[in-house]
Amino acid sequence: MDKNAAIGVFDSGFGGLTAVRELIRLLPGEDIIYFGDTGRVPYGSKSRETIKKYALQDSRFLLSMGVKYIIVACGTASAVAADTKEKLTVPMTGVVNPTAAAAVKATKNGKIGVIATAATVASHAYLRSIKALSPSCEVAEQACPLFVPMVEEGCVDRDDIVVRTMVERYLGGLKGMGADTLILGCTHYPLLTDAIRDYMGGGVALINSGEQAALFAKSELERLGLLSGRASGGSTDFYLSDDTEKFGALAEYYIGRHLDGRVERIDIEKY
Ligand code: DGL
Repeated sequence: MDKNAAIGVFDSGFGGLTAVRELIRLLPGEDIIYFGDTGRVPYGSKSRETIKKYALQDSRFLLSMGVKYIIVACGTASAVAADTKEKLTVPMTGVVNPTAAAAVKATKNGKIGVIATAATVASHAYLRSIKALSPSCEVAEQACPLFVPMVEEGCVDRDDIVVRTMVERYLGGLKGMGADTLILGCTHYPLLTDAIRDYMGGGVALINSGEQAALFAKSELERLGLLSGRASGGSTDFYLSDDTEKFGALAEYYIGRHLDGRVERIDIEKY
């Protein structure tokens, strides 16, 4: 495996940028190739078969770009298509297990809330992963299907009435159960952190799945001897399956820095 090759990251759209933001912070010398399946988002309301097909195509595209490692920065694909790993020639990390481990570490009262897409909640992947680590934890899961389109449209402001209303509607039950830890189990959701924190209160630990996947990937790349050794100057290139027009500005806003890598559209159905 070429240590100088890029790290591949994919998601259904903008959500995986939460992992990219953390990767750039942790490993500024690494090249990153991001694929956002903006033409087929959302994944969370699709069938298992479709999500598995998409996850395999996304991975094949990244492999065709010569990546050394793949981060599935999509909670839905991680939860439903974990077996994609067996079909690949490079190591792969999803978001579920690292995020569950961080939540188990963070909770003090053993009550963990999980918010994710409908497909992720139906898979109970987070529930199983938490219970495997800590059987006594109480876990409640809640699907939040409107959060993804809100993020894709840039509708994330904590003072926006739509954002506040939807946060209250989806999180009311979890607040009532007294969870002291909340897993943002879809990588789009950390982009709503301010509004979620306002509603849940500062005492609830919010676990960012994109961030946890990036942290875990870093330790795996170290363990496997796959880091390039460069301390800075890594590039980040973006490939999308739909229009690239609005991506650049929103990606810069979400990543919090100027991006000068390429932004290109590709035909994902070819992979
Ligand atoms: N960001 C993805 C996830 O983490 C996908 C959301 C969606 O496409 O529905 O689940």
